Amino acid sequence: EKGGYDHFMLKEIYEQPRSIYDSMRGRIYPLEGKVQLGGLVEYSEKLRNANRIIIVACGTSWHAGLVGEYLIEEFARLPVEVEYASEFRYRNPVIYENDIVIAISQSGETADTMAAIELAKEKGATILGICNVVGSSIPRLTHGGAYTHAGPEIGVASTKAFTAQVTVLTLIAFYAAQIKGTLSQSKLTSLLTELESIPSLVEKALATNDIIVKIAEEFKDSTNCIFLGRGTGFPVALEGALKLKEISYIHAEGYPAAEMKHGPIALIDEQMPVIVIATKNSSYEKVISNIQEVKARKGKIIAIVTEGDTEVKNMADYVIEIPHADEAFLPLLATIPLQLISYHIAVMRGCNVDQPRNLAKSVTVE
Ligand code: F6R
Repeated sequence: EKGGYDHFMLKEIYEQPRSIYDSMRGRIYPLEGKVQLGGLVEYSEKLRNANRIIIVACGTSWHAGLVGEYLIEEFARLPVEVEYASEFRYRNPVIYENDIVIAISQSGETADTMAAIELAKEKGATILGICNVVGSSIPRLTHGGAYTHAGPEIGVASTKAFTAQVTVLTLIAFYAAQIKGTLSQSKLTSLLTELESIPSLVEKALATNDIIVKIAEEFKDSTNCIFLGRGTGFPVALEGALKLKEISYIHAEGYPAAEMKHGPIALIDEQMPVIVIATKNSSYEKVISNIQEVKARKGKIIAIVTEGDTEVKNMADYVIEIPHADEAFLPLLATIPLQLISYHIAVMRGCNVDQPRNLAKSVTVE
């Protein structure tokens, strides 16, 4: 059942090269610089004329939504709002008929997300779904959408479903850009060509497992942990913190790295592990200053860096190297070591990683 792995969670972490590939298969045509999403074709005119996109989701799916916000705004130049379904549904939100609502849900059964969809539908918006479980309730409530092809996810903590959601959101960002003409054909070709290579880069990111076991040994008894990132590294930090909380019961918080000085920096001392996404992209230099702020207060830095990095290596207590990729694809790679850190720490602490206390795989109560 677990395919030789000790837990479903670990099996599902290792399935990600495949589940990411399956989520883009048949949908991208790099040579033609084209994305095809069958379940969106009917709504391409709506997408062209939409004033904004509202993404609704809960938990990990909400984090995927935040990544979607960065990518859709960057590539399709469409304003995006990302809402917790539970907040959105109870606050009489402003919804227009030319809004497109994207609901993200692994299970397709989350009660709050379903209620948010019903509300937006009543107000005349177009609703698209990104779901994993075929035939679940949410795909039946939406007008169109695109399934993630992650396959069944058994571990309660979402891993491969998250990266599959991010993959599909990346495709939606490119699709919207194609429809709106905000990306040149050649740029799309180069992005799609790179996207095609992501499954093999994820394979390399999984090879960080050995160093991660050592890091987990050192930090398994921590009581707190901070995750920092900027740009798309910020939602990745939030997701890293959620994973650690849910399966190891260590208190963890994710923050945009620059927000640290507005409060959380008071928590930093020699006991505090700070996991920083410090890959080589547009915010690299800024993240380096944030690392210096932590080091000046004796915090322990565990940095996710781009292969071959030397600058961060000189400052950090530990570095985890992941392959270089366009900034757009950073979440698909940087998430992998964070999943592994949580997994190993939880196992070392004797936690039930596949079925953490108090949690259920689908949350059908509001
Ligand atoms: C975290 C986790 C939850 C779910 C959330 C939404 O690992 O599994 O936070 O992401 O309950 O569930 P779905 O995506 O099924 O709507």
